[in-house]
Amino acid sequence: MNVHAPLSLSLLNAEKAAFAVDVAEALSQYPKKLSPKYFYDEAGSELFEQITKLPEYYPTRAELGILKSRSKDINAIIPKNAALVEFGAGATTKVRLLLDECEFGAYVPVDISGDFLQAQAAELRGDFPGLKVMPVNADFTAPFDLPADVRMMPKVGFFPGSTLGNFEPHEARAFLRSARVILGKDALLLIGIDLEKDEKLLYAAYNDAAGITGQFNKNVLVRINRELDGDFDLESFSHRAIYNKERHRIEMHLIANKAQTVNVLGRSYSFLTGESIHTESSYKYSLERFSALSLGSGWEPRASWTDAEEQFSLHALCVLDRKNSNS
Ligand code: AVI
Repeated sequence: MNVHAPLSLSLLNAEKAAFAVDVAEALSQYPKKLSPKYFYDEAGSELFEQITKLPEYYPTRAELGILKSRSKDINAIIPKNAALVEFGAGATTKVRLLLDECEFGAYVPVDISGDFLQAQAAELRGDFPGLKVMPVNADFTAPFDLPADVRMMPKVGFFPGSTLGNFEPHEARAFLRSARVILGKDALLLIGIDLEKDEKLLYAAYNDAAGITGQFNKNVLVRINRELDGDFDLESFSHRAIYNKERHRIEMHLIANKAQTVNVLGRSYSFLTGESIHTESSYKYSLERFSALSLGSGWEPRASWTDAEEQFSLHALCVLDRKNSNS
């Protein structure tokens, strides 16, 4: 197949060029594997919002329940007039619960999508007039600078939704270490982590009866077709989500229903019947395994809370070694 044809990137902007390079690499390797970050264009983000409301998808409801029922405990460990730094800017429902309950001096949402970030910031400025809202347009998985105005404030990082679960273990460690450097030596990190549980519940959460998760998964093909001049036939691929027990993760795949060739930006890629593109892993942790991950990444567990059914957990971590926190 024509996988060695040069990629014509010259007419693409930097963001699309990076997408093109990643897709070319993803489809040329065996097994084929693409980063889940490409799910979240406008349509994908909207589909994810729908997922969070599905009866089978427990994580969002469980985490909101913890934030509501434990708001006093959370408030008790948060320093007054701290800057709340949120890694990623999605729906504001969760952060509003924190802003309502705790006395923050500033809110710093960090996200790669500038338009979304500004819209979210404007909404919060209207609803919390006394709060300094200072968005940072950056990829939060890499080092970035906090606004000068918050440098002297205590910092509280917020990373809800078990987004850390979508990182491979080495990426999760790298993120936690980088967050420790960004937030500084006295910081606290509030992080939501999905827990291991009965496989049937996990399976149902990623194979919902309404088929929204399947649409979300396939949306990445729609995006490749639109942005990278691809010709994926959506009917020729099926959504599959399975629980990989040894690796403690749900895996989402797109499975080719028949042998076929797909073209993207002038290159062609062949698929055998049943061949998969691995599009997402969603790691599930036990409380012990998450504590070990934190400790190995420079953070010390300070408190953790679960919902009554122990489906989801919220952790407050503090910097482990104050002397060497910037190393
Ligand atoms: C964003 N992330 C934590 C979700 C998850 O559960 O891994 C993404 C998702 N994928 C399928 N459904 C939801």
